[in-house]
Amino acid sequence: MLSADDFSHAESAAKHLLSHTSIRPRIGLVLGSGLGSFADELSQSVRIPYTTIPHFPRSTAIGHAGQMVLGFVSKVPVVAMQGRVHLYEGYSAQQVAFPVRVFGRMGVRAIIFTNAAGGINFEYKQGALVLISDHINLQGQNPLVGPNDDRFGERFPDMTHAYSKAYRQIARKAAKKLGKDLTEGVYAGLLGPSYETPAEIRYLRAIGADLVGMSTVPEVIAARHMGINVLAISCVTNMAAGILDKPLSSVEVFETTERVRGEFVALLRTVIPEIAGELKD
Ligand code: HPA
Repeated sequence: MLSADDFSHAESAAKHLLSHTSIRPRIGLVLGSGLGSFADELSQSVRIPYTTIPHFPRSTAIGHAGQMVLGFVSKVPVVAMQGRVHLYEGYSAQQVAFPVRVFGRMGVRAIIFTNAAGGINFEYKQGALVLISDHINLQGQNPLVGPNDDRFGERFPDMTHAYSKAYRQIARKAAKKLGKDLTEGVYAGLLGPSYETPAEIRYLRAIGADLVGMSTVPEVIAARHMGINVLAISCVTNMAAGILDKPLSSVEVFETTERVRGEFVALLRTVIPEIAGELKD
């Protein structure tokens, strides 16, 4: 449930982060499993471990460094979360969404989310990057449950355009420049941490999901509540359960993110200045 202190906690965490640097980011990045290395590429960077940020949840997932990195991508000031927290770690949806609220209080107006996901759509190949066009929340939780704090946003935020069409267009153009085609898909967010059964994957396909993962949904809801624009990119680290006749493993997930790292970094490098240009309008 939303704590009455959530706003002041987000405010003090934001102040703490900004007190370390003169960088004033308007773009935030949430880098998922195995995709955190982009934060190492920022210039003039300042690193702040989550453990030192007031009220901040600590990441327990493997493949997550657990620090905030502020720096520049081609002169664009950004703030990146190197590793996120998940519901399956035992955090509440509010705790999972808290960093997004901190971003908002820092002045961030656009967030790029990345995650590792299983591919449900038969057209996908392992290692593909897919733009999330929409989501299905099957986590049974929502970070906005509880009394609404109007300082964050309205009681019933619209989710029709949760994943900005304009940003998806920017990302598709950026990928084209790099010689790649980006497809789009619907992300089903599940609680985890067990992977899905083949029957669950058939069910998810039937209800219109192309991708499945255990993150992103609470954060996107909190971002839209605050009126922050969203771009979200999934890395299809594996075909979802039952598609191939082999068990799923987190080792395969990390191996795949490692393999697409270069492509992923190039895409973000191209997309970020374009989104920054859009924000200035
Ligand atoms: N299912 C859920 N989450 C995931 C998967 C998957 O197949 N791959 C990476 N994250």
